[in-house]
Amino acid sequence: MVLEPVKIGSLTCIPLHPTFGAEIRGVDFSVRPLPDNVIKDIVTAQHKFGVTVYRNTGLNDQSHVAFSYQLGELEMCPKLNGPNQPPRFSEPELFDAGNTDMEGNIIKKNSRSKGNALWHTNSKWWKLIDIVQDSSFNQRRSKYSLLLAHMIPAKGGDTMYADVRTAYKDLPQSKKDELKDLVVCHNLWHSRKVAAPEEFKDATEYEMSQKPPAYHKLVQAGPDGRETLFIAAHAEYIVGKPREEGQKLIKELLEHCIQPQYTLAVKWSTPGDLVFWDNRITMHRATPFSDQMEKRDMRRTTVFDDSPTAYGVEPSTLMPL
Ligand code: OGA
Ligand code: MN
Repeated sequence: MVLEPVKIGSLTCIPLHPTFGAEIRGVDFSVRPLPDNVIKDIVTAQHKFGVTVYRNTGLNDQSHVAFSYQLGELEMCPKLNGPNQPPRFSEPELFDAGNTDMEGNIIKKNSRSKGNALWHTNSKWWKLIDIVQDSSFNQRRSKYSLLLAHMIPAKGGDTMYADVRTAYKDLPQSKKDELKDLVVCHNLWHSRKVAAPEEFKDATEYEMSQKPPAYHKLVQAGPDGRETLFIAAHAEYIVGKPREEGQKLIKELLEHCIQPQYTLAVKWSTPGDLVFWDNRITMHRATPFSDQMEKRDMRRTTVFDDSPTAYGVEPSTLMPL
């Protein structure tokens, strides 16, 4: 199927899939800051497509962060491995999604020195635990992620996305009725322990206290009002349901969302490529590459949500299990 380009203001959007995702042409990232009308078009394109790809932007750490601030307030990269974890970048907003250490060497498999690398680079194809909505484990959740490539491997390492808005729309009405008022507990330690039980079985009280669980409604309106699901790998249980039953439902929904008709693989072509996605309406996962042989240096900014449900469901209002 040939998909027609869509014009949004000064932008040309080349659809990558029938229901979501587009490559965007027409932004000159050397203009800093970007004019307000261009930012407005970028956001309009983002809300329409959910995943937008900008090729060869020429952005660096500083301009990546500065551009991201034009889209909202940014998360600071959490020090999930303790307060003394050294930062690899001078910008505290940058999250390290690559496979290299402070010296630029490849991180060895199963090393705990960089927890996030575990499920991003040490994962098998199609494990449900790889599929995330970034920062869903925060009570104050985030809306956008902007991932900039610095080094890419010769082969593999695409990023996969699922169109959760369309997947939700296609559910039978009886399922939608069942899901309507449910609240999900999201917990970083749940996903880490499932992904890497050996490495995280000795997680300390300090570590766990740095990231307590968060509570969010399962069905929420996306930025254009269309409903969507907020679940993915950090979802530990459904409030008020026996643990097993909730996990079964979470798994069933994830399996529904990652069916081929809802997914899209984005290939990274060159350093400077930027992929911008909305965690409220898409899920994503990294895919394998030869991570013990090749370097892949990817850096991410994360923009806080500012919608009415940004702060999730206040834990004190929930019935105990
Ligand atoms: C991330 C992420 C995917 C990738 O940065 O949050 O999931 O392919 N990255 O690196
Ligand atoms: Mn991610």
